[in-house]
Amino acid sequence: MRMYDIINRKKRGRHLTKEEIDFMVKGYTSGEIPDYQVSALMMAICFQGMDEEETLHLTLAMRDSGEVLDLSAIEGIKVDKHSTGGVGDKTSLVLTPMVAALGIPVAKMSGRGLGHTGGTIDKLECFPGFSTSLTKEQFFDNVNRIKVAIMGQTESLAPADKKLYALRDVTATVDQLSLIASSIMSKKLAANADAIVLDVKTGNGAFMKTKEEAFALAEEMVQIGKNAGKQMAAVVTDMDQPLGNAIGNSLEVKEAILSLNGLGPKDFMEVVYALGVEMVLSSGKAATPEEAKELLMRTIEEKTALDKFAEFVEAQGGDKRFVYQPELLPLASIQLQVMNTEEGYVSRILAEEIGLASLVLGGGRLTKESEIDLSVGILLHKKRGDMVRSQDALATIYANDMEKAKEAYGRIVRAYEISREPVEEVSMVKGVIR
Ligand code: URA
Repeated sequence: MRMYDIINRKKRGRHLTKEEIDFMVKGYTSGEIPDYQVSALMMAICFQGMDEEETLHLTLAMRDSGEVLDLSAIEGIKVDKHSTGGVGDKTSLVLTPMVAALGIPVAKMSGRGLGHTGGTIDKLECFPGFSTSLTKEQFFDNVNRIKVAIMGQTESLAPADKKLYALRDVTATVDQLSLIASSIMSKKLAANADAIVLDVKTGNGAFMKTKEEAFALAEEMVQIGKNAGKQMAAVVTDMDQPLGNAIGNSLEVKEAILSLNGLGPKDFMEVVYALGVEMVLSSGKAATPEEAKELLMRTIEEKTALDKFAEFVEAQGGDKRFVYQPELLPLASIQLQVMNTEEGYVSRILAEEIGLASLVLGGGRLTKESEIDLSVGILLHKKRGDMVRSQDALATIYANDMEKAKEAYGRIVRAYEISREPVEEVSMVKGVIR
């Protein structure tokens, strides 16, 4: 078999066989097939696409390029959740303790943030002592004992995807639907939970800018998961403005704790419940969405999710006092209000601009090695639909450097779009695929 022929066949729009795809993935991972040939194939796929069978074969070949976790030491139906990434997305912090409080095991692999979206691990490191460097035994033991554990993504999961994604990133071949779907699903299948719930974001701050693209990606991922024998659901949710009011690590943790106390922002809680319902349904703990939502709401009302969160933080070495006294969390020294100048209604808040403002403040990473400042960020006071007058505060910037705060100020002003006409309320949940 020759890589040249595989590229040539895809260039002409032919279907690639399992053997050809396996040959490419194995050869590329081992270094026998060079970057330039694989990038030519990726570009051919961008133009010719892949069908369902090819996409499944690519996903499984990438999954099998490394370790596939054996979760059999954990009792019950294991449920995982994945978001395609958004600004202000602290959903996992609230959702995992809610679901775990219902006795559903959540064995989750999470990553650090890169660029303008934050990672769950960075947020959790706001708790002094918290660690995601668990051995597999500790991870399994924590899930069995308290029903939730979060571990850092190990290098051994889907190494072929890591190499391919880095290549796609520099050859303008990231934005092909089947390549994105297989990349995400190879890692989820290697993490190997029984049920996977996907949060596919759509809007100006998301990978998928239009609803049509988001639904197409969600459907492809659900299909791959089902073909691989997993129980699947995907929820397409809004990212036409940041999720909730807080952006930045410690501010987001505070908002998560407020949410666990029943004081979460409305848009954020709508997404939390939509994803939570799918997680509860897939675990078999409820028969209908209404019943699942009722169970989840009770974990907030009775504070069992809050206590579960404290238990989880403590089990991973963190100081649980911070959960009950969030004022102990780090907060930047400078607070600067962003003032409005136009009367009207907020029609959109460009999420990417807000994410970049947080990055400028030091809240995100430009490279994998960057140190982040957990105490900086932005608190939005006005969201889509709100009426605003001249001299209303749109947001507060939390910074440790005045020059950076001023740069963030300009970005936040640019992010707000104000219309003269009232803005209709839109649902955060665009649809569910089961
Ligand atoms: N995220 C991934 O993990 N892979 C992609 O291809 C795109 C987004």
